[in-house]
Amino acid sequence: MPLGQRQGDNGEARYCGAEAAFSSDIQQSLSFALGGSFDFIVAPLTDPVYRPSKAQQDSEGSAIVPPFSGSDLVLSPSQWSSHIVGKISTWLDLDSPDALMRSDSETTLKQEAGWASHLSLQACLLPTPRPLSCGNYARCVNQVLQGLSNMQLWLRIPLVSPAMEAAQGTENEDLLFLERDEITGRFKNDTWEWWNMFRTLCEHHSQLSVALDITAELPAPNAIKRWIGEPLRAAILHTSAFLTNKRGYPCLSKQHQNLITTLFTHNVQIVISGDCLHQVDEPPPPSTDANSNGAEDVYHAKHPLKSYLEYVSHLYRKMDPPTEQERFEMGYRDFLQAPLQPLMDNLEAQTYETFEKDSTKYSQYQKAVRAALLDRVPDRKVATTTTVLMVVGAGRGPLVRASLQAAEETGRKLRVYAVEKNPNAVVTLHSLIKLEGWEDVVTVISCDMRRWNAPEQADILVSELLGSFGDNELSPECLDGAQRFLKKDGISIPSSYTSFIGPITASKLHNDVKSYADLAHFETAYVVKFHSVARLAPPQPVFTFDHPNLETLMDNKRYVKLKFELSPDTGSALVHGFGGYFDAVLYKDVHLGIEPSTATPNMFSWFAIFFPLRKPIYIPAGSVLELHFWRCVGPTKVWYEWAVTAPSVSPVHNVNGRSYWVGL
Ligand SMILES: C[S@@+](CC[C@H](N)C(=O)[O-])C[C@H]1O[C@@H](n2cnc3c(N)ncnc32)[C@H](O)[C@@H]1O
Repeated sequence: MPLGQRQGDNGEARYCGAEAAFSSDIQQSLSFALGGSFDFIVAPLTDPVYRPSKAQQDSEGSAIVPPFSGSDLVLSPSQWSSHIVGKISTWLDLDSPDALMRSDSETTLKQEAGWASHLSLQACLLPTPRPLSCGNYARCVNQVLQGLSNMQLWLRIPLVSPAMEAAQGTENEDLLFLERDEITGRFKNDTWEWWNMFRTLCEHHSQLSVALDITAELPAPNAIKRWIGEPLRAAILHTSAFLTNKRGYPCLSKQHQNLITTLFTHNVQIVISGDCLHQVDEPPPPSTDANSNGAEDVYHAKHPLKSYLEYVSHLYRKMDPPTEQERFEMGYRDFLQAPLQPLMDNLEAQTYETFEKDSTKYSQYQKAVRAALLDRVPDRKVATTTTVLMVVGAGRGPLVRASLQAAEETGRKLRVYAVEKNPNAVVTLHSLIKLEGWEDVVTVISCDMRRWNAPEQADILVSELLGSFGDNELSPECLDGAQRFLKKDGISIPSSYTSFIGPITASKLHNDVKSYADLAHFETAYVVKFHSVARLAPPQPVFTFDHPNLETLMDNKRYVKLKFELSPDTGSALVHGFGGYFDAVLYKDVHLGIEPSTATPNMFSWFAIFFPLRKPIYIPAGSVLELHFWRCVGPTKVWYEWAVTAPSVSPVHNVNGRSYWVGL
């Protein structure tokens, strides 16, 4: 039975499983778990005593393979696929020094994965690899992955290494934390390193994901955070992670609660595992109903993990329901979109409609225009002054409306020009002006602002030509052209904007780019609603543009070199690319933006922008990442190039704008 239902959220995290021991009667194991309100079980498919090398030989010396598992008929196909996650035998050791063990392990792994695939299971749980010594295991798993249709393989990784867990509170703890593997030089007890080695050997296969074991100890918050950008499908929550409340029931520490809630919101399924460590008084079994026509009164023994499930379910139901904005954004999470090119292309009605729903954006503009009008026209000049305001790139008119409302609020008189180059939007602009009776105040100009010969100079130039990375929709080039008709002391709203960038772990996005199987997609920027993305360091400013541009020689080419340091408690991490954002100063203290630390709340017009790396870059704990970023301008296009030079070197991406550019 699902843990609950949050409005509009149909994620997998609603389903909770139980780890079950091997049973020759899987049907019984499943109905026991379902009777205890679990949704699925993680169960071994093969008797743990089975070893291929012990199979008998026939008279010709070929192995007689005994049935290594029960019949597929014991459950229906939908029961297998909806309620069973196969647990690959835990005795497997494909990196053992013992050749027989390796060969038995390889045979069993392939047999079990093949059997699970035959049953159409959604996933199989792979045993934890040896720390930083998993070459053969990963190779065999990669071979299995090559032949899989839809099944996922979940690699079981402890969130805290068993050695670290055992050393908690002892003087060995710090030494163990810093212990490095002799061969690889990597931190031996950072379990993220185990995962990273394994998935790198498996070529970042999209069907290989992680199931994290969660016990009583948790790593530092930043070390946990980096897992959010990894392909995390399940968290195996051990009964040993639970505390006991006053009434003797299991409960979790605040840190564990926060972690589980974060996992829920990232679509990670919880699997409860371990022995029952809390003896909770049970309510008496239901009494036999005398009127039940003699039907058998079946009393199900209470599932030993039921009280843990009830607590997890309580945490799920306690979560705040998603806000309206979150519900709007859910369908866009971690989904690659091509950025708009409003200069080169004409936006569609649907796109304008989405913009226009964002009341926060327009109320920020209204505030900025209001402040500019008050500064520009003192009270004593209100009756005699008409301010000339030009909305350049007016679309279907929302900034015209915001400006007129600001004028009304301040009692200032306005003459407005609405300049728009999209002929389709101009049609709507005309009808809006007629409908609202603004004909005496607003003039519509159907023209590219860079080429318009304005009949008079403007006091205020209002525009919104901003992309997710600020200047990526060519606001600088358009406004440099438009400032010809701005008075010398005129005001531009926005008066400046700055792009920001920071390294991210984003395995899903990277795999999605990879699935296009060409270079061009790795050298393209994407608009994305980041969700299962780990920000590894705070974003830093990249390029700033001021308007009006007072430079004698206008040049919108730019270059920066940035250094990012991961916080020391993060450990090592993998960078799949960079997250880009912007912040704009509309006027004085009125700003608008999506840079995470200062983002304007409740605004949904912009998602972040993702600049991928052709190959993910490994950042060893404590090392610095050096990024180079260029904004290049040619006669017909503007483009970005980017490269990493530390801790390792990437090629320069998008040389000469060969893959991605914005047309002028
Ligand atoms: C991001 S939309 C904003 C539309 C509207 N102001 C709003 O806030 O909903 C930018 C608008 O500017 C227009 N535009 C872009 N470059 C332009 C140019 N050089 N001259 C005139 N209009 C331009 C586009 O066609 C588009 O309608």
